[in-house]
Amino acid sequence: MLHVEGLGKSYGSLIAVTDLSLELHAGEVFGLLGPNGAGKTTAISMLSTELPPSQGDAVLCGISIRRQAGLVRRWIGVVPEEIALYPKLTAAENLRFFGRIYGVGGMELEHRIDELLHLVGLQGRRDNYVATLSSGMKHRLNLTVALVHRPRLILMDEPTLGVDPYSRRQIADAVRRLRQDGAAILYTTHDMEEAETLCDRLGIISRGRLIATGTLAELLGTLEYTEAIQITGLPAGTDLSEVQAAGDVCSIEQYNGTVRLLVRNAARFLAPLHKVISFYGPPARVTISPPSLKELFLRLTSEEVRR
Ligand SMILES: Nc1ncnc2c1ncn2[C@@H]1O[C@H](COP(=O)(O)OP(=O)(O)OP(=O)(O)O)[C@@H](O)[C@H]1O
Ligand SMILES: [Mg+2]
Repeated sequence: MLHVEGLGKSYGSLIAVTDLSLELHAGEVFGLLGPNGAGKTTAISMLSTELPPSQGDAVLCGISIRRQAGLVRRWIGVVPEEIALYPKLTAAENLRFFGRIYGVGGMELEHRIDELLHLVGLQGRRDNYVATLSSGMKHRLNLTVALVHRPRLILMDEPTLGVDPYSRRQIADAVRRLRQDGAAILYTTHDMEEAETLCDRLGIISRGRLIATGTLAELLGTLEYTEAIQITGLPAGTDLSEVQAAGDVCSIEQYNGTVRLLVRNAARFLAPLHKVISFYGPPARVTISPPSLKELFLRLTSEEVRR
C-alpha cells in the first residue's frame, strides 16, 4: 500500500532522516523504533505531507506524497506526538470538527463519531469537555480524531506516551481493530514490550538511518545467542568455570550481583547450574529467557552511537 523510497530530510548540515526505504502493507502494523532524536517524528511528518522531504518520495496507493500531496492527504490519518484537541469542545464536537475538515458530514459523521468513541471506550464521555478528561482519555480521543475519514494509512507517533496500562490496552486493542479492518499502520513507540506484542514488523532507526527491519523473530535471529541465563543471589567470586565450560557462551555480563550468560543452547548448562545452585541454596536463583527486543535495540543503537 505504501512504498517509501529513499526518503530524507536535512536541516542545513543536520541529517534528520536519510535514505528511508520501506514497504507497508494493508492490514499491517509496522513499528518504527529509535532513540530520542533518531528521526521518527521527522519520518512521520514527511509521510503525512506536513514536511517536504529533502530527498526521495513515498507512494501511497499509487499517489506520490511529494507531487500529489493534496490528493494523498485524504487517505492518511495522523496521530501526533502532542495532544491536538480543542479543550473547550466536547469529545463529540472535536470529532465533528475534524470530520468536517475531511468532508465527512450529516448522519454518516454522527455514526462515525459513535463508532470511534466506542472503539476507544469513550462512549460514555461523548458530551464531556476535553478539558475535563484524564490524560489517558485525551490520548484515546487524540487517536480517534485521526480516523474520522477512514484513512488507509494511519501514522501514529508515540500514541501511548505517558499513558496508564488501562488506556494503553484500549489503544492497543483499537490498533488491532484498525489492522483487522485493513488499514496500514506506522506506529512509533519507546515501549519495547508494546512493540513486541503489537507490531507485525519492526524497523529500528538510529541517527536518521534505518539500521534493521524485519519481524520480531527475524530481528532476534540476528543475535548470536538464543537464550540468556541469569543467575542471581550467588556469593561474590563464585566459581562458574564448570558452568561456562558446558557449552558455547557468546558473552557474559555481570552487574549488581547478577551474572548473565548469553548462550546458544541453555539445556546444556542445566546440570552444572543445578550443582552450583543447590550447593548455595536460596537466595541463589536461575532464570532462562529468550532474547528480548529491548536487548537487541540497546545493542544495535549503542553500537551506532559508538561508531
Ligand atoms: N525543525 C527542525 N529544525 C532543525 N532540526 C530539527 C527540526 N526538527 C527535528 N530536528 C532534528 O532532527 C532530528 C530528528 O528529530 P525527530 O523529532 O524526528 O526525532 P524522534 O525520533 O521523533 O525523537 P523523539 O523520540 O524524541 O520523539 C533531531 O536531531 C532533531 O533535533
Ligand atoms: Mg518524536
